[in-house]
Amino acid sequence: MATIIINFKAYREGSGERAVALAKAVREVAEKADFYMAVAPSFLDISDILRNVEIDVFAQHTDAVGYGSNTGRIPPEMLKEKGIRGSLINHSERRLRLADIEFLVSRFRELGLTSVVCTNNVATTQAAAAFSPDYVAIEPPELIGSGIPVSKAEPEVVENSVKAAKKMDSEIRVLCGAGIATYEDVVAAMDLGADGVLLASGVVKAKDQKKALEELVGLR
Ligand code: G3P
Repeated sequence: MATIIINFKAYREGSGERAVALAKAVREVAEKADFYMAVAPSFLDISDILRNVEIDVFAQHTDAVGYGSNTGRIPPEMLKEKGIRGSLINHSERRLRLADIEFLVSRFRELGLTSVVCTNNVATTQAAAAFSPDYVAIEPPELIGSGIPVSKAEPEVVENSVKAAKKMDSEIRVLCGAGIATYEDVVAAMDLGADGVLLASGVVKAKDQKKALEELVGLR
């Protein structure tokens, strides 16, 4: 089953009570759709969502540290204790060093958390795939939030990222993201070999989020 992860970022439309409402909408649409759907809300909203919505929740970021004197940091172990499914790692808006990415992917594997390593081009996708995360998510930064879908604007980047990642490890699932908003964009991504998409503004900033979600999965 193809994967759709909705990143709420720090958008006002996806925070506080609105985050819970949006997660509920994702859950409702997921029940009718042929996709595995999960959400990546702000850390501040994770507890409320976990309490109120039956849905897999991802963190938007995790720190490459363990328990201990790490003020303001969130180690993978805390995600595990909380019942969080996994995390985006190295998102364009929250870059990490290579050694930190490797640390997180292997710690996630030990803890049974799902790792989604974000990359910005084919070369970094290949590098990330060398760590064998569960997912790599290729997102050309210039298209993020642009409304121009990566699957149409830079199909070769998606296609070559899929090839590079699967050559490194055939088990890795490859997502693409940036500007994805419609079912057509999702289908285009899958036609290029992607196993799903990672998106934000197309849903979170939509006037009618539920309608946008339904359109995204082809229910409209
Ligand atoms: O994590 C998803 C993201 O960076 C893509 O953003 O708004 O182009 O869907 P957007």
